[in-house]
Amino acid sequence: MGGRPVILLLFVSGLLDAHDVITTKITFSREISRILYKRCAGCHREGGKAPMALLTYEESRPWAKAIKEEVLERRMPPWGAVRGFGSFQNDASLTQEEVSLIAEWVEGGAPEGEARYLPPVPALAEPVKVTGRRIPVRNGAMVRGLLAGIEARVKAEVQSVRVFADQPDGSSLPLIWLRHYKPQWARAFAFRKPVAVAPGTRIRVEPEGQAQLFLITR
Ligand code: HEC
Repeated sequence: MGGRPVILLLFVSGLLDAHDVITTKITFSREISRILYKRCAGCHREGGKAPMALLTYEESRPWAKAIKEEVLERRMPPWGAVRGFGSFQNDASLTQEEVSLIAEWVEGGAPEGEARYLPPVPALAEPVKVTGRRIPVRNGAMVRGLLAGIEARVKAEVQSVRVFADQPDGSSLPLIWLRHYKPQWARAFAFRKPVAVAPGTRIRVEPEGQAQLFLITR
């Protein structure tokens, strides 16, 4: 009988400990602030598109668990394409290392670290503009020349659409893999380097019909 309150107390203090014990060397000041400034601050700042700012430790700490979840699920930052399938100048997605740092920081108690390591808050970056001629493409369309980028418009959120350039020699270039791509984005993805395709190259879209695609050519 008399044992009960003790068990309860142990249970409660166990919860508190799990919250407070710091088991990682990764800190907000050193690693995490740099990732957030580079990848999140464009929207997560006062007056930005996101509902809350993530610039300071005080602003970010209450969101730590949600931040981990959003980056592991690759819902944040919103980008709409799978990293590694095609290669883009304006790629907003996190590298695997950045995702791991954030996850480890949160699991290790999300410590602040020393203020002297904090980088300066960056100015807002200008979005990359992709210039060139926009040609609408569908499955099977012939293309040639230098491809500078690809633009996608969808009527409803698209779960997965892959676009390839099938060359006449039988090789196939992955152009883009749209994932969880939303109608409000109408995004232009700029290839890291213009993609040269041989005459006779055909576009392959899998599955077709879900996205309106435009190739941006030089
Ligand atoms: C292009 C703008 C943009 C960028 C960049 C961005 N976010 Fe967001 N974020 C949003 C918007 C808008 C919301 C509101 C919910 C929604 O629309 O999905 C949001 C919501 C969130 C939420 C709350 C999700 C919930 O539980 O409701 C978290 C956490 C988050 N973002 C973390 C991040 C992190 C971490 C980064 C950087 C790695 C980031 N975001 C980059 C726009 C952005």
